[in-house]
Amino acid sequence: MDRLEPRLRRATAADVEELGYVGPAAYAAEYAYFWDDSVALARHLATFSSDAFSRLIERPQVSVWVAEIDETIVGFLTMIVGSADPIQSRAGGAEIPRIYLLPGVKGHGIGYKLLECAIAHARKDDIRYVWLDVMASARQARSAYIRWGFVELGPTRFSKPVKAELADMIVLAKQLD
Ligand SMILES: CC(C)(COP(=O)(O)OP(=O)(O)OC[C@H]1O[C@@H](n2cnc3c(N)ncnc32)[C@H](O)[C@@H]1OP(=O)(O)O)[C@@H](O)C(=O)NCCC(=O)NCCS
Repeated sequence: MDRLEPRLRRATAADVEELGYVGPAAYAAEYAYFWDDSVALARHLATFSSDAFSRLIERPQVSVWVAEIDETIVGFLTMIVGSADPIQSRAGGAEIPRIYLLPGVKGHGIGYKLLECAIAHARKDDIRYVWLDVMASARQARSAYIRWGFVELGPTRFSKPVKAELADMIVLAKQLD
């Protein structure tokens, strides 16, 4: 596929309906197999609902970024400024709780562009690093983060009831100064 040319922009309240179906679809496409417990999976998917995005977007320390192709959202990133990483607890952090693309647009640099937008915006808040956690077995995501300049800080565990052998996570951070 040719390199895609998405439009990147900050999400507004007008985007939550679309995010409320792109989010669960992108999550389930990648990680539904982590779950034996479908009730728990459904509850987790609800954390990507339009209501959840509405509540998130209202928080002053939060920004949500979307990638659009043909005026249709194909991926998004959420950032919380003022969140310290859970391994070293350093000040000056911004957390990236979620970065998800639909399957057909992965590997075209869109994730990195979303990250660049979020970081450029957060620099006015004097953040010194961004951090995120990732499922340890998510090879493609982990290697993208390393290519983007993140380093691994240490292990953690996913708090929800995924298959026990898949619950390991890694915390990574990218220094900005
Ligand atoms: C993980 C995910 C967000 C990464 O986004 P992506 O757009 O697919 O990844 P990118 O294409 O931006 O980055 C990876 C590649 O882009 C390259 N890249 C693009 N621009 C770059 C830049 N300016 N600097 C460094 N690397 C860059 C990397 O080198 C890498 O290329 P390679 O692996 O072919 O050598 C995305 O694949 C995804 O949503 N996956 C499914 C859901 C998921 O796992 N989310 C993460 C949950 S923690």
